[in-house]
Amino acid sequence: MNKMIVANWKMNGSISLLNEFINSIKDENLILAIPNIYIAYAALANKSFKLAAQDCSVFDGYGPHTGEISASMLKESGTEYVIIGHSERRSSSNFDSPDAIDIKLKNAINAQLNPILCVDENFETLLNNQIKLLIDDNLKNITIAYEPLSAIGTGQIPSNEDIEHVLNRIKIKYNKVKTLYGGSVNYNNISNILNIPNVDGVLIGGASLNLQEIQSILGCNKSL
Ligand code: PGA
Repeated sequence: MNKMIVANWKMNGSISLLNEFINSIKDENLILAIPNIYIAYAALANKSFKLAAQDCSVFDGYGPHTGEISASMLKESGTEYVIIGHSERRSSSNFDSPDAIDIKLKNAINAQLNPILCVDENFETLLNNQIKLLIDDNLKNITIAYEPLSAIGTGQIPSNEDIEHVLNRIKIKYNKVKTLYGGSVNYNNISNILNIPNVDGVLIGGASLNLQEIQSILGCNKSL
């Protein structure tokens, strides 16, 4: 079975790069997390990949919250997934406390989006029930991505044993979730990572801006 390839452009990309992806990629395993400003454009195009947002508001629905974008708005614009609690959001935003993450998960699930919840080396907070919403009924649509801070953008990935150990612990606690690894994933290490037990997919940052590299990674995923 092919695995999830989540490509997080962060605050990068352009309409012309997006057009190249739309025209060249024919692969439903790709979930492209693009800046919100591009989502409606991509959703209306004839594309074969799925769309993700990189965050959603703690505020639900609609209302007087200048600058915020709610989970319902993302859903209406054509998004299927939303990344929640990425370490770059947690370090730069007052909103991403464990309580805020709980609310965002709830908003995403209410809006029928599939949340991709990021955890770092402090994944124990997740295992210690600090994310209250992770109760059984909601789990089937949740994906948890293990993204150690030491691996994001550094070129240094943990050992296979470390990745397997953490994802295993998450699966033991939440056996219905899908588990991803993220941090310095690229074409050179993709086949090693996808073959680690309990890796249901990857979350890719920097390498996801290179169309040829993403195509090679998708090809590798198909040949598993
Ligand atoms: P990276 O980023 O692949 O550039 O390390 C991963 C991420 O931040 O999700």
